[in-house]
Amino acid sequence: MKSAVASWPQPSLGYAELPLTTYEKRLNFMAEPILRIDGITKQFQTKKGPLTALEPTSFSMDVTEFVSIVGPSGCGKSTLLHIIGGLLEPTAGHMYLDGVEFHEPGAERGMVFQAYTLFPWLTVRQNVQFGPKLRGADNNKRKELADHFLDAVGLHGFRDHYPKQLSGGMRQRVAIARALANSPRILLMDEPFGALDAQTRAVMQDLVLDIRRKEHTTTLFITHDIDEAVYLSDRIFVMTARPGHFKAEITVPFGQEREDALRNSLEFLEIRKQVHELLHEEGKAVVEAEIAAGRTE
Ligand SMILES: Nc1ncnc2c1ncn2[C@@H]1O[C@H](COP(=O)(O)OP(=O)(O)OP(=O)(O)O)[C@@H](O)[C@H]1O
Ligand SMILES: [Mg+2]
Repeated sequence: MKSAVASWPQPSLGYAELPLTTYEKRLNFMAEPILRIDGITKQFQTKKGPLTALEPTSFSMDVTEFVSIVGPSGCGKSTLLHIIGGLLEPTAGHMYLDGVEFHEPGAERGMVFQAYTLFPWLTVRQNVQFGPKLRGADNNKRKELADHFLDAVGLHGFRDHYPKQLSGGMRQRVAIARALANSPRILLMDEPFGALDAQTRAVMQDLVLDIRRKEHTTTLFITHDIDEAVYLSDRIFVMTARPGHFKAEITVPFGQEREDALRNSLEFLEIRKQVHELLHEEGKAVVEAEIAAGRTE
């Protein structure tokens, strides 16, 4: 059993030492993709009747992959991510992590949202220790995990600060450290840098690349920013306007070693253009639908 785990890329700290029952389940996984989404759909009941937010959506991800989803506003991106996070129930479909079907939230799916979701009454270090504490890690282990991941996001010197004493970029770095401290099998990120200015955002993107290399993370990432999607991803799914489904999958062949200069390469610009054109068609569809709805109001 142990050798199967050793040959599998893992976070440098965490799972192997924490008493997680899901960790045992990982041992059946070798032939499986890390995440498999099979025909997930979502209908909301609204005052005006049922609203289809998500048409049948299927995809899978391999371990250490970085996959982005882009799509026009309201197409169902957050709905899909919330379903995968176990925060929303799908209307139909199945989801598997390491081959094991899941329905509920779980520490093995770490979520980072656009809004800052730190506990304001806890220090930076206490925020990061929160998950491991819930799962019964002892004091030393909690400290070790928090220090390791605060180091990874460059915030070691701020561990005794409170969230309100930090900038937006720093708070999101704490949120990433907090998610990583739970040793998730997969990180689910919903526009985590959407509220940051362009420079901070670029720094955060390099941080994400760096963490991916060091911690072997697997990430499903939602963004409106095409550059960000191309810079970070191995694959990009482009969604249609609502009711959303995947209309295109683009492979980004740059590997894990990326730096800022890549953004100016012809290959990068070519992929960027491809995604832009696919998205632009959908954006137009959204505006046309809004105009048509306005006429019938
Ligand atoms: N709880 C809910 N009840 C009813 N409708 C909802 C609910 N949550 C989302 N919707 C609708 O489902 C559709 C998809 O919403 P969702 O938030 O997933 O879009 P999105 O792609 O994340 O958009 P954005 O890019 O603006 O974040 C939208 O039309 C939204 O209004
Ligand atoms: Mg959203």
